[in-house]
Amino acid sequence: MTSEFTNPNLDLLYSAEQIKARVAELGAEITSDYAVRNLVLIGVLKGSCVFMADLMREIDLKLSIDFMAVSSYKDGTVSTGDVEILKDLTNPIREKDVIVCEDIVDTGLTLFRLTEILESKGANSIKIATLLDKPEPRVKKELKIDYCGFQIPNKFVVGYGLDAAGRYRNLPFIAAVKNPDKL
Ligand code: IMP
Ligand code: MG
Repeated sequence: MTSEFTNPNLDLLYSAEQIKARVAELGAEITSDYAVRNLVLIGVLKGSCVFMADLMREIDLKLSIDFMAVSSYKDGTVSTGDVEILKDLTNPIREKDVIVCEDIVDTGLTLFRLTEILESKGANSIKIATLLDKPEPRVKKELKIDYCGFQIPNKFVVGYGLDAAGRYRNLPFIAAVKNPDKL
């Protein structure tokens, strides 16, 4: 049987232990920032599912969760900045304090548009928590990231929810793909 976790095409970036420690820090920060507020965590499917599951267990506050699934319109391989809502929220967010949970911010176009959509739904406040931030390809420079796990170089990464063509979301660590042609 071949192991997915020891795939030689992967270069370890952050171990499960390093991620756990950093997510605990983010959770503690959010806990102190959001005391006595109406907190809702909104996960952007599918990539944020592992991060959000761990993060919410590090937030010692009354909160609820919801999910959205969006697809970024691409013009060839270049993102146009428009997003299609594939799955909308289940509950209203009017007067709620929202933290959008993402796996990774790359160009920033998806989250920029998603934030506008959430604002139009009447949220009281909207902040962004992302596990990873790749600042180099950022197109939407004005996108403000409030909580960030790790800033990474402009490499394609997988694991802990992040995928390459649907694969590798189950890795307990984050790794860079050495040869993207050999997925
Ligand atoms: P953007 O910020 O609008 O460019 O889009 C960010 C989305 O692109 C993320 O939610 C991921 O789904 C995907 N993405 C960007 N970089 C990576 C990567 O290195 N690995 C896996 N997915 C990525
Ligand atoms: Mg995503």
